Amino acid sequence: MKMWDGRFAKPSDSLMEQFHNSISFDQTLIDEDIACSTAWAGALERIGIFTRKEAATVTAALAAIGKDYRKGKITFSPHDEDIHMAIERMLVERVGEAGARLHTGRSRNDQTATDLRLFIKKRLLDLHNEVIELQQALVYRAETDLDVIMPGFTHLQQAQPILLSHYWLSFFFLLDRDKKRIGNASVAADTLPLGSGAIAGSGFDVDRAGLAETLGFTDISDNSIDAVASRDYVLDALAACASLGVSMSRYAEDLIIFSSREFGFIEIDDAWSTGSSMMPQKKNPDSLELIRGKCGRFIGNYTRMAATLKGVGLAYYKDLQEDKEPLFDSVSQTEIVLRVFTRVIATLSVRRKRIADDLHPFLFATDLADYLVRKGAPFRKAHRTVGRIIGHCLERNIALTSISVDELRGFSDLFCDDAMKLFSWEGAIAARSICGGTGRGSVKAQISKAKKLLRKG
Ligand code: ARG
Repeated sequence: MKMWDGRFAKPSDSLMEQFHNSISFDQTLIDEDIACSTAWAGALERIGIFTRKEAATVTAALAAIGKDYRKGKITFSPHDEDIHMAIERMLVERVGEAGARLHTGRSRNDQTATDLRLFIKKRLLDLHNEVIELQQALVYRAETDLDVIMPGFTHLQQAQPILLSHYWLSFFFLLDRDKKRIGNASVAADTLPLGSGAIAGSGFDVDRAGLAETLGFTDISDNSIDAVASRDYVLDALAACASLGVSMSRYAEDLIIFSSREFGFIEIDDAWSTGSSMMPQKKNPDSLELIRGKCGRFIGNYTRMAATLKGVGLAYYKDLQEDKEPLFDSVSQTEIVLRVFTRVIATLSVRRKRIADDLHPFLFATDLADYLVRKGAPFRKAHRTVGRIIGHCLERNIALTSISVDELRGFSDLFCDDAMKLFSWEGAIAARSICGGTGRGSVKAQISKAKKLLRKG
């Protein structure tokens, strides 16, 4: 028997049940559904649908169902369509008629939207906190690795020397923007749909402001059609996860390269690496590869939801039930990716000597050009002059740093003895002390700012 089958002459086909039931995945929303129903019982009591005693009985039974679920004592029936129906069935079984009054004036359409918004708010807060943990690991790295000068890469070619700390902090600030996207998605979910009924608004004048307060919503939906039909807040949450996933994937890619034998800049801790079943020597950065790989599903989940939504007119259609699995998947997987990345970053070791040995003298090329500019050359001309010097070094197979001032003067008479001072890694770093640059002062200022941002949460 179904709660809605009064007008039906025969039961659902079992394949239809299998196809249509969402209990296997929407039981994830059990806490939210119980919170939503408990608040609703209170609202119904205030308008006289429940006596005080009935409301108390229903509320206690709802809490007991939640407790039993956590203890693994609940078995869902194959006829339980979704978590809302399952809870209502159990409620009626436990308390009888009072349970049968609970669905007064509400629909699963406003109920599921309320549950989902509650879920999003809670889980995005968890993600926000996990992002902070990852940011803390990056600040720890930035402080620990402050003395390491490494080649900075563009196009994966050595470009200019940078502080390794500057690199770690670049990830910090990217994550800070991802954190804002998570916050915005949380605000988008922070509106109460309950009271909207199936489409037209509840026929019972429940206190929606009171419901919003009880359930912790800042706002109340203005339009009942919009409240039950919209899922743009799900897209916002999925987009925030996808964006965070892309950010983490890019840095995972870098660290995979840095951990290769060819680079050898970092070593991933054994606890976050795996071996090969065949090749005994292998140590693979699987943690980082999965961080990169999982990003595909975050983007996929966003795309999947957007594609589902685009064909759904107003208001509720069953298609909307497809909102849950991508959402649950994205939030839980984003959370684990964040937690793993935090540990990988906090525990990796930096191979300082290898990094120092890898700094190529050509990394001074821009400093040479800037030197000529300071002596009066137009930059384009200086660039060409230094390009010719590089060509000369390549042709003769000599290091840029072993070239003499006399040789340099053969390319431009603007070169003086002080040009030799350019060939210092510290000097090249110090030359970029501009705010936001890789100079030590700037990097220390970034660390202070990062700490300040973390204090704000
Ligand atoms: N399981 C449904 C969902 O998640 C609940 C809403 C069902 N509403 C309805 N009118 N059939 O979307």
